[in-house]
Amino acid sequence: MNRTWWKESVVYQIYPRSFCDSNDDGVGDLRGIISKLDYLHALGVDVVWLCPVYKSPNDDNGYDISDYHDIMPEFGTLADWEELLAGLHARGIRLVMDLVVNHTSDEHPWFVQSRQSKDNPYRDYYIWRPGKDGREPNNWLSHFGGSAWEFDPRTGEYYLHLFSRKQPDLNWENPQVRREVYRMMRWWLDKGIDGFRMDVINMISKAPGLPDAEPEPGERYAYGGRYFLNGPRLMEFLQEMKREVLQHYDLLTVGETPGVTPEIAAQLTDEQTGVLNMVFQFEHMGLDSEGLKWRVRPWSLLEMKQVMTRWQKGLEARGWNSIYLTNHDQPRAVSRFGDDRRFRVPSAKLLATFTLLLQGTPYIYQGEEIGMTNVAFPSIADYRDIETLNFYREAVEVRGVPPAVALAAIHAKSRDNARTPMQWDSSPNAGFTAGNPWIPVNPNYPEINVQQALADPDSILHYYRRLIRLRKEHPVAVYGRYDLLLADHPQLYVFTRTLEPDRLLVILNFSSEPARFQLPAALPAAGHALLIANYPVDAAEDLRSTTLRPWEARVYRVA
Ligand code: GLC
Ligand code: CA
Repeated sequence: MNRTWWKESVVYQIYPRSFCDSNDDGVGDLRGIISKLDYLHALGVDVVWLCPVYKSPNDDNGYDISDYHDIMPEFGTLADWEELLAGLHARGIRLVMDLVVNHTSDEHPWFVQSRQSKDNPYRDYYIWRPGKDGREPNNWLSHFGGSAWEFDPRTGEYYLHLFSRKQPDLNWENPQVRREVYRMMRWWLDKGIDGFRMDVINMISKAPGLPDAEPEPGERYAYGGRYFLNGPRLMEFLQEMKREVLQHYDLLTVGETPGVTPEIAAQLTDEQTGVLNMVFQFEHMGLDSEGLKWRVRPWSLLEMKQVMTRWQKGLEARGWNSIYLTNHDQPRAVSRFGDDRRFRVPSAKLLATFTLLLQGTPYIYQGEEIGMTNVAFPSIADYRDIETLNFYREAVEVRGVPPAVALAAIHAKSRDNARTPMQWDSSPNAGFTAGNPWIPVNPNYPEINVQQALADPDSILHYYRRLIRLRKEHPVAVYGRYDLLLADHPQLYVFTRTLEPDRLLVILNFSSEPARFQLPAALPAAGHALLIANYPVDAAEDLRSTTLRPWEARVYRVA
């Protein structure tokens, strides 16, 4: 396999609205990020992925873009952005921008034109259809609830929006749309950015005829994923993008691709014939739900091992994985996969070990490095996320779900869990703003914050730094082959990474109880050197048979 910088990098994801507010209007901004560059540098990350900072009416916090060539005024100016880029580069950190081109805002000039008349030159930039029997053109469900079609009285037709009605889908069948997208990408690349994270990029090709999906009994709308995920022209469009744009630059490209299989991901990321460096897959994000994300169920370690192993093996020697446990759309990792009550610190460290030691490029989401947790706001009035608000309204007002039940699902799964402000210190509003934050701060900030973590040598933050360094010092941690051991152990997740002659052994107790460990016969009986652990380990201990403490994590170099 080729060795490249984007495989060796650790990526840090910033959600600008919630990171740091420089002018006390309650909204995080670019100058806020600039003020924290030394913090990022000290953490040791190589790449920053910046969620959208483009001009936007913020129906979906920047994922609804009205001008691809300018910065959202709340976040700053293009000059601020240039300064941010220069500041990152001066510290050896690369910048990956979010690319949102499955849809625009309905306030984008293209859409403003498009809805004027059926013969407007921009009409075909979007997906317009006449109604069917006085109803929507098909029964697809929007990701944010309700129909994926909006009727526009001006021309008497419907437009498709897989997300909110203020996010009309672009028509990628139109070559002019594709040319405009490529031109815009080159505009940013020529400013010196280092890559793109491509928002829902596997939704850009819709099945011809836009067929109805199969609704669940009693439902009017249905998830149409099989007709717009990994659609018939996806590869063709991305090959064209590669030819026209990507191959002319040295980039990190990562596609957000819900509903991909390892086989499709291997095609997309194939080192020879693929189109992207890596994708975000979501199988492990589905482990704690029953179909719909809001139907919460406990996740099982055995299933987690199966899913992760399928992906590790599925892309081995062919494509490349990205590794993440949370992002701006997901609950906090330590609350979801760890124990944020009794074992917050060790379990956050264990999850860090897991993320940094699997094969693939690791992504750390802001606040993960200090073990920030989910929030449980008492009232729906404290929530801001459009998906959450729509879910609540539909559940409570339309389906008659008791508010407490809907709130419990929101506490577990709302995207706002990840969007409460970054906790910098114990001053009011966690040092995020001296104003009124756009979303309340998690009340646990007096104990969980960066200032505290910097001062405590045993903190999660310092552990991350050590792990990042370890990954850089040991190529086997990046390039080594992954092999699962003790597949059926209900508490332990154990694997090796091998890059001859080097081998690492990773032992993780994914539970709040002690766990018996017996060294598999395939490994040498002695001589293992401990590289990192989240508890003190007795050097004389016999690894052939031992007990791991709750959420204990160890990485050994195998003799
Ligand atoms: C992606 C983004 C999410 C956004 C959606 C629509 O899933 O990560 O935040 O709401 O796409 O753009
Ligand atoms: Ca601000």
